[in-house]
Amino acid sequence: MTTAFAAPAPAVASAVAVADADADFAAITADAHTNTFHPGAFDWSLARTPEELAFLSRLCFEEPGHEEASIAYLTKELAQLAEIERHVAAVMALVLAELQADDSPLNRGDDLHYALSCFAAEETQHANTFYRYVRTLSGHDLKLGDNLFAERFALYQGPQSPWVKLAALCCSAYVGESVITVFERRTELMDPRHARFFTDLLYKHGLDEARHIKVDHLVMNVVIPGFSDADKAAMRELLDATENYNRELAARFSASVIGEFGFDYTAGNVAHEIQMQLTQMFAAHSHGEDGVYRSVDDGLDPRARLLIKEFTDAEAVHA
Ligand SMILES: [Fe+2]
Ligand SMILES: [Fe+2]
Repeated sequence: MTTAFAAPAPAVASAVAVADADADFAAITADAHTNTFHPGAFDWSLARTPEELAFLSRLCFEEPGHEEASIAYLTKELAQLAEIERHVAAVMALVLAELQADDSPLNRGDDLHYALSCFAAEETQHANTFYRYVRTLSGHDLKLGDNLFAERFALYQGPQSPWVKLAALCCSAYVGESVITVFERRTELMDPRHARFFTDLLYKHGLDEARHIKVDHLVMNVVIPGFSDADKAAMRELLDATENYNRELAARFSASVIGEFGFDYTAGNVAHEIQMQLTQMFAAHSHGEDGVYRSVDDGLDPRARLLIKEFTDAEAVHA
């Protein structure tokens, strides 16, 4: 089995980086116990009022009149997100269990354990929240039994080190976390006083996601650079396999929702088009073919930056 930070002992610079990382993990999660929301914190009676549905239509199609298509689109995307979040939580728990057999410096004490435990618990609550949201919004008790969970979980039950699994998991989650951050900014721009349920939903979800993104950045900056070439190759393989399954999952959710609603919700759907563009750009940029995993804000090309600026009025995604 390979491990990050394997012998020979890392140089002093690496030890300093590990000490900094411990402090950063602690800082990221210092307020995690109060700065988070469970589904019980929302007023669900506001989730599909006429004003809310008109807002969703403007968010997705830039005009009212497309309420049903907006409902179908958000149902598909957020039901799929809940399924992916459930998987992230489960794999994170597996990683935490496997780290019990690892004595790397970064794994000493409780800072990393605490940060990853919060991450897993929060993703479970996000799945819980979005599960309820899509049912409340759509009125459909949409379930996808054929969700490939066993296959997606089995990917992470191999002999790779838990650090490799953590890195693949964080980098796969990072793209979606970055895309939904852009949409959170979009709702904030359209509804700065948070009058709408969906704005509030993305804002409260985003409080947790801002911490996850910082954890992802630490994994990119501190864990992955300590990998051997074999670790990097194993991570890439896991990441690619995870993304392949997620694409298959997306196709299944799409077919399921189109079957349930009886029409295609993507025609003329501006939000869907921008989501697809951002997903492709963020994946290509942050999972560098040069072997470097980086923040979506780190050297993003001007075309992507312009799209983000026009959509959210923000100069950056995470900064
Ligand atoms: Fe989440
Ligand atoms: Fe997350």
